[in-house]
Amino acid sequence: MAHEENKAFLRRVPLLSALNEQQIESLAAASARRNFPKGRTIVSEGEPSQSLYILLSGRAKVQRSDSEGKEVILAVLGSGDFFGEMSLIDDAPRSASVITLESCDFMSIAKESFKSMLLQSNDMCMAVMRGLVRRLREADQKIETLALLDVYGRVARVLLDFSEQVGGERVVRNRLPRQEIAKMIGASREMVSRVMKGLETDGYIVPMPEGRLMLREKIASYIS
Ligand code: CMP
Repeated sequence: MAHEENKAFLRRVPLLSALNEQQIESLAAASARRNFPKGRTIVSEGEPSQSLYILLSGRAKVQRSDSEGKEVILAVLGSGDFFGEMSLIDDAPRSASVITLESCDFMSIAKESFKSMLLQSNDMCMAVMRGLVRRLREADQKIETLALLDVYGRVARVLLDFSEQVGGERVVRNRLPRQEIAKMIGASREMVSRVMKGLETDGYIVPMPEGRLMLREKIASYIS
């Protein structure tokens, strides 16, 4: 039963869409489905790697920290995203930690199975490369943001990145704690609170129920 369910989940993952039935079958045999509650570490920076992971539902942050415990959030992953591929490809230690931001369902695929799938499927290699290129593009944009924008621009950039179009309005649907925004832009939580207050007072953002935020069009002026 679990095996059949694993196969069904794997078939829905965009990364694996190029695999044939036999390849999905053997990958399912080497995978396990897990659920972690909010705040649990799935992958730890600096540790050796054993598995590749695919998020089925929920969000998780990719985070690095220095020797004093100061943290920076590199990315937030969501349903359908994969992670843990970097250390499987270059055999170096895990480049970052991945920590759940809410309850997450995910699959883990054993290292050797993932590697043998890559060797068997050019399409899957391309899918992994596309994922890596997307991350590089996002990292380039982040470098630009940090180098060229002031703190108002950096906060505006994060809010726009996390927003979506809902019925003609741009809305940040998921609650974004100020502490998490601070870790994404290299600012203090107090500074982010001040900037958010300023944006609200000047009508760039409008708080909505359940921690959602509506963004006014003029907020884009901070990043242009
Ligand atoms: P790995 O190094 O094995 O373990 C940590 C994982 O975090 C890494 O593989 C990637 O899957 C993921 N990761 C690292 N850096 C980034 C980034 N800048 N954006 C998104 N994901 C990342």
